[in-house]
Amino acid sequence: MKRYYISQLKEGIQLDGVPFVVLKKSLGMSKNGKSSLTLTLGDKTGSILARRWDYEGGEVSTGTVYEVSGRVIIYNNNIEIALDRLTPASHFDPRDFIPQSPRDSLALLGELKKKTDEVQDPGIKELLKSFLYDEKFVNKFLLAPAGKVIHHAYIGGLIEHTWEVCRISMVAGEMYPEINKDLLIAGSILHDIGKVEELTYSTQIEYSTKGRLLGHIFIGAIVVNERARNINNFNPSYLQQLSHIILSHHGDYSTGSPVLPMTLEAETVHRADYLSAQVNRFYNILKDKPEERWIKGDNLLGRQLYKSKVKNLTVEEILMSEIERLEEEEQ
Ligand SMILES: [Fe+2]
Ligand SMILES: [Fe+2]
Repeated sequence: MKRYYISQLKEGIQLDGVPFVVLKKSLGMSKNGKSSLTLTLGDKTGSILARRWDYEGGEVSTGTVYEVSGRVIIYNNNIEIALDRLTPASHFDPRDFIPQSPRDSLALLGELKKKTDEVQDPGIKELLKSFLYDEKFVNKFLLAPAGKVIHHAYIGGLIEHTWEVCRISMVAGEMYPEINKDLLIAGSILHDIGKVEELTYSTQIEYSTKGRLLGHIFIGAIVVNERARNINNFNPSYLQQLSHIILSHHGDYSTGSPVLPMTLEAETVHRADYLSAQVNRFYNILKDKPEERWIKGDNLLGRQLYKSKVKNLTVEEILMSEIERLEEEEQ
């Protein structure tokens, strides 16, 4: 964690090597003929201008994180940083720059491990454990976002989404005994596993080259098949069906699935995936605009969303709104 976030900066604070990402830069000439440097610095809480009137340092790159030293001042009625020193940061925590899931990723991992213990088939259980107990994989799985923009687009978003899909699927699994629970658990946990490699997340969420070229559906199917091949006597029919869940989980050719869900388990995981993504997407659109009732959705959604205030009202507020309504009726 950083010592200071941008939203906490106040006049007079002295910054000593605090990491910020350079969002914009411009080099100019100050009145005394020296070159001046103006930067827009950012972190997950916002952005701030930073200036140095007599800059003689090296090239500054946008998108790079620097350890910034300087004093927070008021200039032209705005808060900004009078720069002293800038050094490229050798390491930093992506959680300082990208918003983070409100849920505890480690606790969610624990719950996924518990679900894995319920799996009956030894091959499927071993396959799941080969992911969830692999420290190198888990380190990425705990941090990865589930998307760049639309849903769970924050640090820890992938494990949160995976946990949601697993929980929603299990409700269906309990209702419908004809659904194979082992495949349901494995399909839910592994359906988006390719996102660990599809997305990068240092100061912002981006697609990796591998992600752009192959996509998480294909990457996921490959990774799962590679690991399953190393497990003795892995049931080939289960592997085929598990691959099918991963390949079909988007539910449609137009959304990137090469095959449509053709098993009960694949259809269930697809529906759970859709519900988890859509609820998160609606929530993200609605949460930042507490005063509005009708809110424009994102471009792909193609509809407005209605924000009901009923649930959040206190008893006093409900009474007040009822009084206002009656008064309006009388007028
Ligand atoms: Fe997906
Ligand atoms: Fe998903």
